[in-house]
Amino acid sequence: MSEIANAVTAEHFRYLAERTVGEDAFLRQLKNEARTAGIPPIWISPEQASFMQILLKLCKARDVVEIGTLAGYSAITMARALPPGGKVHTIEVSPVHARFAYQWIARSEVADRVAIHRGDARIILPTFAADSADAAFLDADKPSYPFYLKECLRIVRQGGLIMADNAFAFGELLAHDSNEPEVLAMRAFNDLVAREAALQSIIVPLGDGLWVGVKL
Ligand SMILES: C[S@@+](CC[C@H](N)C(=O)[O-])C[C@H]1O[C@@H](n2cnc3c(N)ncnc32)[C@H](O)[C@@H]1O
Repeated sequence: MSEIANAVTAEHFRYLAERTVGEDAFLRQLKNEARTAGIPPIWISPEQASFMQILLKLCKARDVVEIGTLAGYSAITMARALPPGGKVHTIEVSPVHARFAYQWIARSEVADRVAIHRGDARIILPTFAADSADAAFLDADKPSYPFYLKECLRIVRQGGLIMADNAFAFGELLAHDSNEPEVLAMRAFNDLVAREAALQSIIVPLGDGLWVGVKL
């Protein structure tokens, strides 16, 4: 590891977070009301959201697949980076989460750029056509990530973007006494992505660690 990498401290991170365009009142209210509704606060961080928007703009994404909608936070932020006519196809298995997200997406300015697919992504993803998306974001049940990656490599076009959250396994990645199934799944997934020849990828240390890969 280089000295430069060692130089990135929590203070550096606070510094960059303070200089990242943050959330607007709508997204802050969405999060508050999601908490009140009993939805777990496991959405992406504002820094991840901003970085993902930049990547989506750079690759001129129009169609995006998301696995794991929760309250609609990341779907709305990604949709804001798309051109008119663009679409985030977001998949959610929990009827409670899907209902909440539906209401908030409908109230957002990007309601026409988000489609919620209700159901299990393991069933829904195989119905999406090959090369039909410019980008994908994996953010659901971790043991299914290898399947989601395989499907997204089929669905995303060459040169497109594949992102996955929680590379740092909820902060437990390097805690070797942690053997929670979701932590073990993320460790195995990280090794799988590192070996995946169809992707050029890197873990970006934002939020809980964001995998970013380009389909070769
Ligand atoms: C971490 S949250 C997603 C957060 C969201 N992407 C955000 O940042 O705003 C994970 C979501 O995936 C959903 N989920 C879990 N397993 C799923 C599956 N097999 N198919 C679809 N959604 C699933 C959960 O119900 C939960 O709402």
